[in-house]
Amino acid sequence: MQKLPDAVRIDAGRGGLWRVIVETPQAEAEIYRHGAHVTHFQPRGQKPVLFMSEKSSFEAGKPIRGGVPICFPWFGAREDGRPGPPHGFARLLEWELTGAEEAGNGDIEIHLRLVSSEATRKEWAGDFELNYTVRVGAMLSLKLDVRNTSNQEMRIEEALHTYLAVSDVKRVSIEGLAGVTYSDRVGTPHTETEGSAPIRITAETDRIYLNTRSTCVVDDPGWGRRVVVEKSGSNTTVVWNPWIAKSKAMPDFGDDEWPGMLCIETCNVREFGVTLAPGQSHTMGAVIRTE
Ligand code: BG6
Repeated sequence: MQKLPDAVRIDAGRGGLWRVIVETPQAEAEIYRHGAHVTHFQPRGQKPVLFMSEKSSFEAGKPIRGGVPICFPWFGAREDGRPGPPHGFARLLEWELTGAEEAGNGDIEIHLRLVSSEATRKEWAGDFELNYTVRVGAMLSLKLDVRNTSNQEMRIEEALHTYLAVSDVKRVSIEGLAGVTYSDRVGTPHTETEGSAPIRITAETDRIYLNTRSTCVVDDPGWGRRVVVEKSGSNTTVVWNPWIAKSKAMPDFGDDEWPGMLCIETCNVREFGVTLAPGQSHTMGAVIRTE
């Protein structure tokens, strides 16, 4: 790799895992090679945009709780009934840092790559190359490119599982999903259609909004800001907050942390998974900014 820009440094972060620290005139960010995980993004003079759990593991083979986990090649439990870690293996593996460069406007771009290996083939038959670009500036821009490098058709699910930091999830509202049909995963899974009012979180919430390419805006009156999640190449959006009981059940999440986070996930899951012909690639992106 070429010389790092002055705004970028690499060190051993929590748990001794390698991380990339980016400090630009506009913002600071932190990205772990473990899972290509963005754990921190904070525009100057603002509160962090991403939530991170105080209880998160930082350990090889375990997911990081908070920031932006990458789910691939499946989302949640594996659908084909075979064993495998929830949300796939991409968030559990060490990615290669392939580049770090100035990208105009004082922004910095970090590039990471994960390719299939004997270890991934033991879990899942497909051969793939994932290239992830994280652009840090006034906005955080994420682009995940998936290429099918096998000689057979491949079907994948994927998510940029963004944990947003909020003042109090009970007080925020979410715009952008009015009239969209969703699969409600709390209790017995069933399908509902969202009404016209902005969404309020009043209980455990775990929904896959289907066939939507819309931008979501989280209005946070407590912190006097709106967080905008704009996406591309994505046909589903997951909205998740574990609320009280589920928080207690998660060992790597504090019992009282749930009011401070809300996941708005840019994804292609369930019947909106992506099918790739041999050699074909697909790019999904999310741009996160505050206003
Ligand atoms: C969300 C799912 O995307 O991730 C939830 O919709 C799940 O069902 C949550 O509980 C967290 O998953 P994990 O594997 O990181 O605990």
